[in-house]
Amino acid sequence: MLCVVKVARFSRKSIAWIFILASFCVLAHILLFEYMNELVQDVNNIFTVAIHRENSRLHGNIKFILIWESDYYISQEFYEVKNCSFANCFFTKDRNYMGDITEFSAIIFDENILDSTDRPMRRSESQIYVFNSLESSYNKPACDVNNDEFFNWTLTYRLDSDFTWSYFVVRNLTGHIVAPSVTAAWQTNVAPIDQKIKTFLGRKKKAAAWLVSHCQADSFRDEYLTRLQEHLFHFALRIDVYGECSQNVCPNGNCEEMLKEYFFYMAFENSFSIDYVTEKVLHGYDNYAVPVVYGGANYSRFLPPGSYINAREMHPYNLAFAMYKAIKDPNLYETYFKWTNLYTVESDARENHPLCGLCEAIHKEDNRVPAKEKFRLWWNNIDGMKWCLSEEYWNETALVNIDATHIFNLY
Ligand SMILES: *[C@@H]1O[C@H](CO)[C@@H](O)[C@H](O)[C@H]1NC(C)=O
Ligand SMILES: *[C@@H]1O[C@H](CO)[C@@H](O)[C@H](O)[C@H]1NC(C)=O
Ligand SMILES: *[C@@H]1O[C@H](CO)[C@@H](O)[C@H](O)[C@H]1NC(C)=O
Ligand SMILES: *[C@@H]1O[C@H](CO)[C@@H](O)[C@H](O)[C@H]1NC(C)=O
Ligand SMILES: *[C@@H]1O[C@H](CO)[C@@H](O)[C@H](O)[C@H]1NC(C)=O
Repeated sequence: MLCVVKVARFSRKSIAWIFILASFCVLAHILLFEYMNELVQDVNNIFTVAIHRENSRLHGNIKFILIWESDYYISQEFYEVKNCSFANCFFTKDRNYMGDITEFSAIIFDENILDSTDRPMRRSESQIYVFNSLESSYNKPACDVNNDEFFNWTLTYRLDSDFTWSYFVVRNLTGHIVAPSVTAAWQTNVAPIDQKIKTFLGRKKKAAAWLVSHCQADSFRDEYLTRLQEHLFHFALRIDVYGECSQNVCPNGNCEEMLKEYFFYMAFENSFSIDYVTEKVLHGYDNYAVPVVYGGANYSRFLPPGSYINAREMHPYNLAFAMYKAIKDPNLYETYFKWTNLYTVESDARENHPLCGLCEAIHKEDNRVPAKEKFRLWWNNIDGMKWCLSEEYWNETALVNIDATHIFNLY
């Protein structure tokens, strides 16, 4: 737009005109800029959707899914990398993408929604609200009553979620995922372990390592570890602690390489919650360091029997002694690796990511389900509602928490 006005002499009238014209020009520029911006945005959206349609294995219409919080890991890119066989979903973090929020087929909320008042103003009957979390329910309990009758589906690490998102999977030798599963049926065999693994195990030099960033955890793990250290000391062994809670850093910044030298890895969770077993166990399995686990899960649903030690079921003295015996006796230590004859443990399901199942289910005609009535009770668990009580009450009752009693009884 041409806005240069040449004036030789300025009469009062022409100054007024120039002023009006200039204002008009500025306004026009602003409007045009806004309009162009929107146009570019629209074209962009059409373009990405078009590209997506091109890429996706077409099985019908694309369903649009809104990711309510913008700083979480789920995104369209994340979804595309999962290479779902049924990929007709488009994920966006742009609440205005469809013009109207009720136009999205589904909305995914993460655990930050639980104590947030930032919720959609309107909800359509045909929309599916999905609760997604990989955080322990102990650290993020659902207290607000608005969480009941809100979520239609759940997408969490819990095995009783509608879609389970595991931190790792266990496969059998034909590649079938056998765990995590409530019905995990483990096999055992007596075959000797692979010679390469034996040689690898023969090079181990150090007792146990622990990588930790969350320094003061609530599962009393620090107290347990202190006791364990004391008992290990009597066997001339110790746990080397690495990370933000200690002065030690992994050599060359390569913790995985370092862990290969260790007999044991302390895979202690920061809190006890149902099914909450995180990727920490992989630090052990990936490096042939036996994981010593400590958490709220029933581990037989997650890991091959005999491949780990459950500290929660053992007095710290007995654990220290078990570690000592295994370190001293290579034959005994090798038995912890029998599982390698039958299974592999991997960080992510290469196929069938839960987002694939979620997308497919959103397309189903018979997907209607009313929101979970007692969501809080489900997420927090029966004995977890106390996490929502006032801090004062919590302080008083914390010491009668079953976990605390359980652990203090051990000492
Ligand atoms: C994606 O899946 C298809 C089969 O559905 C397979 O042929 C292809 O190799 C996969 N790509 C990646 C990157 O995994
Ligand atoms: C792996 O598990 C699947 C499903 O349970 C089963 O059909 C298959 O025979 C198993 N493979 C091995 C090697 O056990
Ligand atoms: C742990 O899970 C297994 C397999 O589902 C089950 O048989 C066992 O009873 C459970 N143990 C406890 C203590 O709940
Ligand atoms: C989700 O739950 C809400 C509240 O119960 C309900 O109105 C809505 O119809 C449900 N959505 C679907 C697709 O079933
Ligand atoms: C609860 O205990 C913590 C830590 O002991 C303390 O800092 C806090 O003030 C207590 N809160 C109340 C309400 O007593």
